[in-house]
Amino acid sequence: MTTAVESKRKRQRAGQVADPCVMVIFGASGDLTKRKLLPALYNLAREGLLSKQFAIIGVARRPMSDDDFRKKLSEEIKEFVAGSLDPDLWQWFLRRLHYLSGDVDDPKTYEKLKVRLAEVDAEHGTKGNYFFYLATAPEFFSRVIHQVGDCGLAGQESGHWRRVIIEKPFGRDLESARQLNRDIQQVLKEQQVYRIDHYLGKETVQNILVFRFSNGIFEPIWNRRYIDHIQITAAETVGVEQRGGYYDQSGALRDMVPNHLFQLMSLTAMEPPISFEANAVRDEQAKILHAIQPLSPEEVLSRTVRGQYGEGQIGDEYVPAYRTESNVPPDSSTDTYVALKLCIDNWRWAGVPFYIRTGKRLARRVTEIAIQFKQAPFVLFRKTPVEHLTSNRLVLHIQPDEGISLRFGAKVPGPILNLGAVNMDFDYADYFGGGSSTGYERLLYDCMIGDATLFQRADMVEAGWSVVGPVLDVWKALPPRTFPNYPSGTWGPKEADDLLGRDERRWKNDDQ
Ligand code: BG6
Repeated sequence: MTTAVESKRKRQRAGQVADPCVMVIFGASGDLTKRKLLPALYNLAREGLLSKQFAIIGVARRPMSDDDFRKKLSEEIKEFVAGSLDPDLWQWFLRRLHYLSGDVDDPKTYEKLKVRLAEVDAEHGTKGNYFFYLATAPEFFSRVIHQVGDCGLAGQESGHWRRVIIEKPFGRDLESARQLNRDIQQVLKEQQVYRIDHYLGKETVQNILVFRFSNGIFEPIWNRRYIDHIQITAAETVGVEQRGGYYDQSGALRDMVPNHLFQLMSLTAMEPPISFEANAVRDEQAKILHAIQPLSPEEVLSRTVRGQYGEGQIGDEYVPAYRTESNVPPDSSTDTYVALKLCIDNWRWAGVPFYIRTGKRLARRVTEIAIQFKQAPFVLFRKTPVEHLTSNRLVLHIQPDEGISLRFGAKVPGPILNLGAVNMDFDYADYFGGGSSTGYERLLYDCMIGDATLFQRADMVEAGWSVVGPVLDVWKALPPRTFPNYPSGTWGPKEADDLLGRDERRWKNDDQ
C-alpha cells in the first residue's frame, strides 16, 4: 500500500503540480514578499508546479486595494525575477493576487480575512486548503497564530489542510523558543507547522544528503577513523546593511548558528535515515544536535571566539566599522563574528572536532564544509625531497561557487620526486547549468504538498538553542573588552586562528 507521503514524493519526482491552495502572507508589504516569495512562486508557476487553483492574500497594515497591490508587485517583480517576465504568465498571476489591509493584532482583521478567504477560495477553486506565511516581526508570531486559531481558520476537520510557515528568528534563546513552541502547539499540530530555514532551500545543502547516501564510496570513510576534523564556514562580505536594529539585538551567534550552521553540521554528521520520510530524516538530525557536547563555562572561554568588525577595506571599497552602522549604538558589544569548536559525543565522531565559524565583513563570501582527512600513516618516499604529505580534503561548496572538490597529492612531473596538491572539481553550473532559483521554490512547494523534511521540527530548534545557551550566558556575564577586534575585509579575529593553532590546525582560507 502506498502511504500519503510516498504518493506525494512520487508526484514530486514526476514534477507534478502542488495542491490547490490559498497562501496568506502576513507582513506582505515587507521585503521578503517582493524579493523571495513572489519570484519563487512565479518560478514554480513557470515550471508548471503551481496549481492552476492557486491564490494569494497579502495582509499588511498599509491601506491598499487589490489593484494597488498588483501594481506595486508588477513594478517590483521585474527587479527580482531572474530573466525576463513572461507577460501572459504574469497576467495569470496578477489575477490571483489579493490584498487585505489590517492590523495583525486586531481580531477584526481575522474576521475580515475569514470572509475574504471564503470568497477567494470560491473564486479560485482552492478547496479550502490554506497556508499562512508569517513574514512579520517575530514578536507577532504567537499572536497571529492564536488569532488564526480563534477565528476557526486552523482546523483541518473537513478534508482540507491548513498549514503555517514561520520565518526566523525562532526565539532568541532556549526559553523563548520553548515558549513559542508551546504557544504554537496550543493551536496547531506539529504536522501543520513549517519552521523555515532558508539554508535548506539551497540546492547544495540538499545535495549533502544525496552525496552521502547515494554514493557507496564515501560513507565507509565518513567517520573518526579517517576524518581528522571538519570546518564549516559561512563567511559574508556584507555588513549589517539596513538591519542594524534587529542585528544588534541578535548578533552572529544567534543569527546564524542554531539554525543555518547547525543544519549544515547535522546533515554532515547524521547517520543514514531509515527512509527519506520527513520524520526519519529529522530524527537523525535531531540526534546529532542532542549529541553535541554542552560547553562548560571554562570551555566557552577556551573553545569559542567572538568578534566585531572595525572599519576596513573590502576589495577597493572602504567600509565603516559596525559601531558606526545605522541603528547600532556606538558602544555596541554585539558579535558580528563567531567561531566555535564543537564535539559530537557518538561512536562515529568521538574525538573529531567540528570547527564552525561565521561572520560579516570578512575577506570573501563563501559558505562551505571542508572535511579534512587524516594523513597517510607514514611518508614512504624516503631519500626524496618529500617530507610532508598533503592530507586529503573534500570540500562541499555551498555558495557562491556551488560544487564539490577533492584534494589529493600528485607527483609533479620531472625526474625528481616532488608532490603537489591537486584538486578534482565538480562544478554544479558546468554539469547542470546555472539555476535561477531564489532558494524558496522548493520550500514553498514542499509546504504545498505537505512534505516537512526540509523544515525544522520543534525539538530540533530547542536542541540548537540548548547548545548555544551556555555560550550566550558566559558572553553576557563577561562583556567583550577588545571590540572591534577585526578589521573589515580580513578573516576575523586573531583568536580564531589561535583556536585552531592550539590543536595544530589552520583554517582553510584563501591561501590553502
Ligand atoms: C540570514 C541572516 O538568516 O541569513 C543574515 O539573518 C545572513 O544575517 C543571511 O546574511 C545569510 O544568508 P545567505 O543565503 O546569504 O547565506
